[in-house]
Amino acid sequence: MKTDQQPLVTTARQLMAGKKGILAMDESTATCNKRFKAQGIPETEEYRRKYRELLVTTHGLEEYINGAILFDETIKQSTVAGDLFIDILVKKGIIPGIKVDAGTVSMAGFMGEKVTEGLDGLRERLAAYKKLGARFAKWRAVFSIGTNTPTVTCIKTNANVLAQYAALCQETGLVPFVEPEVLMDGGHSIEKCAEVTNQVLQAVFNALHRHRVNLEGIILKPNMVLPGIDHPIQNNNDEIARATIACLLNCVPASVPGIAFLSGGQPTLLATERLNAMHRLFNASLPWALTFSFSRALQQPALEIWKGNDANINAAQQSLLHRAACNHAACMGSYTPEMEKVIPNLIY
Ligand code: 13P
Repeated sequence: MKTDQQPLVTTARQLMAGKKGILAMDESTATCNKRFKAQGIPETEEYRRKYRELLVTTHGLEEYINGAILFDETIKQSTVAGDLFIDILVKKGIIPGIKVDAGTVSMAGFMGEKVTEGLDGLRERLAAYKKLGARFAKWRAVFSIGTNTPTVTCIKTNANVLAQYAALCQETGLVPFVEPEVLMDGGHSIEKCAEVTNQVLQAVFNALHRHRVNLEGIILKPNMVLPGIDHPIQNNNDEIARATIACLLNCVPASVPGIAFLSGGQPTLLATERLNAMHRLFNASLPWALTFSFSRALQQPALEIWKGNDANINAAQQSLLHRAACNHAACMGSYTPEMEKVIPNLIY
């Protein structure tokens, strides 16, 4: 390892320390607006700002959260009192990160498949985000399971792009979160998801090696291995934990400091239960830290409580804190359903 990469490795380890997780609050404007619309919240910049203020000012969040992933709009925003969100996070000891991909577009010639954009000008954008205080970055690639998808071409193309992004991040001194997401939409079995996730992760690590990315200075942000939402057999949490860990042990080198799952649209409590099952069954035998980097599975209950109304801010913050605490417990295999009774009036 080159000596100038030590800060990267240190940051990656800090992000994964203490069985804490990552708050993904990097929804693009379109995604954030879609979630607001479903709750009847005005889809304006000011409401997005208010909502992100609610998240970052949650008292005690740092007890369970090591890092927060921001969006371009958010990293430049401030509280109503004029404090930059990024400064609030740093004061709490939460490491700020930034989503740097520009979203997905249809892959030419490959119907139904996507490739993630954003490499043009990325070196300059990363430098600018670093100047603003970001210490890590995120890039998401998506793969959907269909009769003939994902194709090898789609997997290899996205893996190469992820590796180029990761190399540029490390050159800039930012830890890359490498996020290849195999979507849970569809009628496939858990075995099919395992096969595809194995294929994708192998291609991604192959590309990372070829692009000379230092694995000690990355975080992997994968999907859990799940049956498709329309598949008739919905496996239990222990089966999902076993399938997920088998896949990760098969594909992720021990030099990677941590794996932080996306939630991918799983029901909120199930995401926690499944993470907990992995730790209950495998904790002592895992070579990497294994934690959460959820957006929906941390935020959705809080968003449903807030509904854009100032009077609900406190209750929404309690909900966010509660989900963070439950997932922190899951990282120790000590989460129990009784924990959900602590705050009785929350809807999940
Ligand atoms: P979900 O946890 O909602 O899948 O989101 C993950 C993510 O990467 C959002 O930035």
